Amino acid sequence: MEKIIARRMSRIFPGIKPDTPAYTAFARHIATGSPAVPARYRNADLHEARMDRDNGHGLNAGIHYVKRTYSGRSAIDDSQFISWRPPRPGLGLILHGPQGVGKTHIAAAIANELYWRFTVANLKCIDHTVRSAVRPRPRPLDIRFYDWTTYLESTRPGGGNQGAKTPATECSLLILDDLGKENTTAYVHERLHTLLNTRYSTARPTIITTNLTPDEITGTDGDDDTPPMAPAYDAHIADRIREMCFQIILTGNSRRRAAAI
Ligand SMILES: Nc1ncnc2c1ncn2[C@@H]1O[C@H](COP(=O)(O)OP(=O)(O)OP(=O)(O)O)[C@@H](O)[C@H]1O
Ligand SMILES: [Mg+2]
Repeated sequence: MEKIIARRMSRIFPGIKPDTPAYTAFARHIATGSPAVPARYRNADLHEARMDRDNGHGLNAGIHYVKRTYSGRSAIDDSQFISWRPPRPGLGLILHGPQGVGKTHIAAAIANELYWRFTVANLKCIDHTVRSAVRPRPRPLDIRFYDWTTYLESTRPGGGNQGAKTPATECSLLILDDLGKENTTAYVHERLHTLLNTRYSTARPTIITTNLTPDEITGTDGDDDTPPMAPAYDAHIADRIREMCFQIILTGNSRRRAAAI
């Protein structure tokens, strides 16, 4: 872990010399990731993750996504907007793939990297002379991470996401984990439609992970060999997702199974 922290420090705060009080202060804060991320993914790190041909393009897309945000050509912080070409402001990602291939890991690692670069660099406890060395951002990013079914619960009476403006609609970056795990009902369609539409119309990005394939989301007409497939969500939702989220398809075997052997 010490080695990982040292590599993280030189990547995120390259101006700071080891064995200085500033180094110690920052190192303590980057030892774990964003508090928004579930505990088991708090150490997910785009640059430390194991990379192979099944997930490499996903990790690289995550690195690119963060870089664009950090360099000011942001999908997230539109006050920093300079010369964005597609991907557009507000563009998120959708990570498709079977169980255990690392979708949540990548989404969490993006949240962690943004947390280190935007939030830790802005901590009040950090001396301002040191802060200027790391190019602090004008405001921290509000990153929210919801398991989709837990989010749906939070839209019911007494939950934290009731009404038109909620943390999920307003946050700078929303991560919706495990879309498609729910039993789809009219209520679910309506919640998803409202949430995505609100974020779409305010150009706020959303990162989605799902076991559904793109065809399962949109449905297919079928042909001579394959029967037609009904869409998981209505056409408006499928269109929104396609427009809002850059598509990444992960393949391969579950890393959980590999770990269990
Ligand atoms: N690139 C990676 N390097 C190291 N560990 C990884 C990597 N990708 C995934 N893992 C680990 O493998 C396990 C499965 O990954 P993850 O939970 O992200 O899969 P998933 O695709 O989201 O699966 P599900 O569809 O079941 O939600 C987790 O413990 C995760 O931390
Ligand atoms: Mg997952």
